[in-house]
Amino acid sequence: MNDTTKILFVCLGNICRSPAAEGILRAMAARRGVADRIEIDSAGTYGGHAGQLPDTRMRRAAAQRGYELTHRARQVREEDFERFDRIIVMDDMNYETLHRLAPSRAAAQRIFRMTEFCRRHPGHSYVPDPYYEGHEGFERVLDLLEDGCEGILDSLDSTKAATRKG
Ligand code: 4NP
Repeated sequence: MNDTTKILFVCLGNICRSPAAEGILRAMAARRGVADRIEIDSAGTYGGHAGQLPDTRMRRAAAQRGYELTHRARQVREEDFERFDRIIVMDDMNYETLHRLAPSRAAAQRIFRMTEFCRRHPGHSYVPDPYYEGHEGFERVLDLLEDGCEGILDSLDSTKAATRKG
C-alpha cells in the first residue's frame, strides 16, 4: 500500500501564501524525518502568475526564518482532486472556488481550511492575503502558516496511529 500523503496548498495567486505553506511544510517534514511520507505542492485559483517564483517580499520574509521558496506558480486544475489526498485552502474565496471546481462530493470532502490546523491562533478562520500589505502582513501570514503546518504534521501522525491500531 502507498504510505504517502499528498497535500496541495491553494491560494489566489500561488505566489505568496500557498508556496510559503509548501516550503514550510517541506522543511518541517524534513526536520521530523518524515519527508518521504509526504508529497507537497501548491497552486492558485488565478493563473495570471503562472511560471513565476514566489513574490520577492514573501521569499525574503521566509528566508529570514530559514525557508527557501523555489516553487513556480501554476493554476489549480480538476485533476488535482484525483492526485491529492488533502487540498488545503487559505481563505473563503479559495474555499468557494475549489468547491465549484470539485468533480464530486467525495472530492469536495478533501478540501480543508488552513486555519483548521492552527492551534496557537484561535479565532482565525482564514489566512489573509498579504499582497497589498506591508512587511507585517507577510510576518502574520508566516506565523499562521507555521502554526498550521505543525497541526497538519500532527494530524498525519494521529491518522497513522489510528490506522495502525485499526
Ligand atoms: P496569494 O497572494 O494568493 O497569497 O499568492 C496574491 C498574489 C497575487 C494577487 C493577489 C493575491 N494578485 O491580485 O495578483
